[in-house]
Amino acid sequence: MTQLVPLPRALHDVSPEEHGRWCCARLEEGNILFFEKTPFELSPHEVLFLLGQKQSEAAYHKNIAYRPLSDRLTGYAQRSAADKERVHAFMRQYSQTVIGFTRQLLSPYAGLWTVDFASFRPQQEAGRQIRLRARNDLLHVDSFPTRPSNGNRILRVFTNINPSEPRVWETSETFDNLAARFVGAGGMPLPRGMPWGPKRVLNKLARAARIHSLARSPYDEWMLRFHHFLKASPEFQETCARTRWEFPPQSTWLAFTDMVSHAVLSGQFALEQTFIISMSSLVLPEKAPVRVLERIAGCALT
Ligand SMILES: [Fe+2]
Repeated sequence: MTQLVPLPRALHDVSPEEHGRWCCARLEEGNILFFEKTPFELSPHEVLFLLGQKQSEAAYHKNIAYRPLSDRLTGYAQRSAADKERVHAFMRQYSQTVIGFTRQLLSPYAGLWTVDFASFRPQQEAGRQIRLRARNDLLHVDSFPTRPSNGNRILRVFTNINPSEPRVWETSETFDNLAARFVGAGGMPLPRGMPWGPKRVLNKLARAARIHSLARSPYDEWMLRFHHFLKASPEFQETCARTRWEFPPQSTWLAFTDMVSHAVLSGQFALEQTFIISMSSLVLPEKAPVRVLERIAGCALT
């Protein structure tokens, strides 16, 4: 089961490198690193402005997303060009700040990651009416339909910027235990290895050309099905062990959300930055979901 690991901890004769490896190991075991007070600066002025940005519930996008690699903002229900530019500038600054902070805290990963999207989540999570697979209040592990990770890991950094309300999560078993319980025997089918022949060649070419819809590895296919399976499974949702966590205003927490099964029960106004962490930089690679699944399947999945 996932545990909360409070930081910063008192360091006695521990080098920054050792501390970084220790933090990475706690994350890779399926725990949440927790800072009661956000360990990086956010402009209070700009946060206040952001809190005034109400997204229409009918808006197509769940969140406002920022793509650091192309410096694009999407999903913003625009009021004025000036407001959009201000949100864009804030998200750019936020993303850069979190990248700098994460580079220092988790030094073994630095430079060996792909910086993925950042997001601002302005909707109240409790009671949202959305389709089953998009629901955050059902326990699941993350898998991105449009951005296959090819076995690399999904690390997310969250900050609750709500001035008064906690963000409430539940977590259950970590991925290794869920896989042991649900693969085979009426649950999920065994993962199958890379296909041979033209399909394999096509997959390689698509990967090189970054055509994501065609470049999905067997691992990505299986993880996306597992995400859907967990959300749709009454057996899992109704019988699994759960732990409730309340992340107070101004707190920050980090987790590998492909490992930590999680549900968001309530809360409004969170910021989040995602990283895709290279398998080659993990300190406990045998714990990675792709290695867990490869042991079960008996073949390579990427
Ligand atoms: Fe999630």
